[in-house]
Amino acid sequence: MADLSTRAEELRRQLDHHSYLYFVLDAPEISDKEWDKLFAELREIEEKHPELITPESPTQRVGSVASEKFAPHRHLAPMLSLDNAFGEEEFLAFDERVRRATGLDAIEYVGEPKFDGLSISLTYTDGKLVAAATRGDGETGENVTANVRTIRSVPLRLRTGLVGTVEVRGEIVLERHEFERANRERAESGMPLFANPRNAAAGSVRQLDSRVTASRNLSFWSWGLGEGGGDFAKQSEMYDWLRNAGLPVSADVEALRGSGAVLKFIDSWQNRRHALPFEIDGLVFKVDDRSIQRQLGSTSRGPRWAIAYKFAAEEATTTLNAISWNVGRTGAVTPVAELESVVVGGVTVASATLHNVDEMFRKDVRVGDTVAVRRAGDVIPEVVAVLADSSHAAREIPQPPTRCPVCEAHLVRKEGEAAIRCSNRLCPAQVARGIMHFASRGAMDIDGLGEKLILRLLDLGVLRDISDIYRLASRQDELVRLERLGAQSIGKLLAAIEASKEPSLSRFIYSLGIRHVGAATASELARAFGGFDRFRNATYEELVAIPDIGPATAAEIVEFFQDGESAALVDSLLELGVLPRGEKVESGRFVGKTIVFTGKLERLTREEAEERVRSEGGTAASSVGSATSLVVAGPGAGSKLEKAEKLGIEVISEADFLEMLDR
Ligand code: IVH
Repeated sequence: MADLSTRAEELRRQLDHHSYLYFVLDAPEISDKEWDKLFAELREIEEKHPELITPESPTQRVGSVASEKFAPHRHLAPMLSLDNAFGEEEFLAFDERVRRATGLDAIEYVGEPKFDGLSISLTYTDGKLVAAATRGDGETGENVTANVRTIRSVPLRLRTGLVGTVEVRGEIVLERHEFERANRERAESGMPLFANPRNAAAGSVRQLDSRVTASRNLSFWSWGLGEGGGDFAKQSEMYDWLRNAGLPVSADVEALRGSGAVLKFIDSWQNRRHALPFEIDGLVFKVDDRSIQRQLGSTSRGPRWAIAYKFAAEEATTTLNAISWNVGRTGAVTPVAELESVVVGGVTVASATLHNVDEMFRKDVRVGDTVAVRRAGDVIPEVVAVLADSSHAAREIPQPPTRCPVCEAHLVRKEGEAAIRCSNRLCPAQVARGIMHFASRGAMDIDGLGEKLILRLLDLGVLRDISDIYRLASRQDELVRLERLGAQSIGKLLAAIEASKEPSLSRFIYSLGIRHVGAATASELARAFGGFDRFRNATYEELVAIPDIGPATAAEIVEFFQDGESAALVDSLLELGVLPRGEKVESGRFVGKTIVFTGKLERLTREEAEERVRSEGGTAASSVGSATSLVVAGPGAGSKLEKAEKLGIEVISEADFLEMLDR
């Protein structure tokens, strides 16, 4: 029995230690499976001997149903808020106030992410978690201890053997993928969706059934202390103390000297924020020196030594006025939410994508609903969710069209695809989008050939497809007659068209607008084939042999060049003088060669060998045919080797192949 008690305590120590490595140091030493094994052993001991259970045991995080609402919890030190700075000017004004009050030339700050979650105060007495409470009015919050105990990054006991009481302050957040999972589950059981991760985190903590909280996989990040903890000379020392005590602190805290360093830090976060697994709504800057913090003091709202730099909100709510239907380049007909204009992420948004019909139904969007709209970075604004209101159920369920809103052709839906498509390849909307894509910056980059001009030229019948772009030079008189297009801009446009005639191979492939072939895929294809002719004649097998090219993409490419119309269009482009520059044509010993590996390779992996072929300008294929130039055969080679011999194709060993590369 004494042995079991010792073993249980040892297991608890080990589990706590590994949680610390995982959550605080971000350097786990054991796998989840090993963790589960230790956990299972501890649970077994405790099940047989319930008297050995301690409240701080990692097994005691499961939760149960509470019988009543949350009890009030009085904070020992008030939970203040922060003043906000919107834009750099407002930060500089704050910096100026601090410099004036202290007489210093440059202030040392710490900069860190501002977690977009639910603020929480954890009370530890003699190193044990005794209470967790929401902020409430700053003086008194709600006691949510049972729920917060289920969060695995909240230590139930501190690593430092501490006497007395300390209040740890921080934020509970829900990582984006957990938020999406929670909403998927809610959608499946017909429950209203959370509008954003912050609401989801708050909703999950303010739960009467802590098993629900436990199921949400919330995370905790600490950013400060209330009562207790000791005297620190610097804010950064407080963070070291928190980490040593076993509390997660952001790894992105940075020491910044002076406002210049702060502005650079802000700049660096504009895009970096999206790489974090959770959402942040800004950055917090704190004066690092605690004696200066004390000197500056606080107002009733918040400290004078810290400020929240807020990013432009990336989410807003507004009314859905109508649903319209957009026809894309590939004929996909997608629902678009027409909105009451609203500012999101610093930009006025009047429409947002609803992605596809399935998504529209999944979100149960109806005209008249209040919706949450999101615009993150350069991403197209999207409708995230409907905010529940009492009239929603009475509103009409939107019906997708059965005919193309532009050309009235029948719409079709391929099995397994989310999109409904216009079946008419000559649909003006598809043609217009195809031309816009072709001329766009990432594609042929024809300066001056923008959306408006393309639509006018289509209207006039001067443009009917992409090849007509290269016929414009011979139709100058028609261009001259166009309103608001002076001789000078016509000259510029024609020069830009002429200059686009020698695109890189990858740009050209991308410009063709083959389904599933985005810019990255196009450059992969260009690298693999080196020349346009070899690309257009590639077989399905050669295509799927390229890493990152899946069966669907390979099939689309083959279909594109087999289709009479698109093949003729490509021929016209080439005849009109478009000459894609092969990316590897002149260099590499396998230029123009197709090589097949068969049997076992002993020194290289298959991927490495194929990569060597591509980097030398060749194509690595998986099946032997008349286009095969060389077969590399290893032990166990079978039918491919036989076929190569039958076709009289040169066969070499792996050693020969390596030697060829070395030469
Ligand atoms: S420091 C005395 N640091 O943002 C208050 N707060 O809008 C000092 N928050 O109430 C707060 N991340 O709930 C601080 N890194 C961070 C934070 C942070 C999120 C929350 C916190 C605060 C609110 C103010």
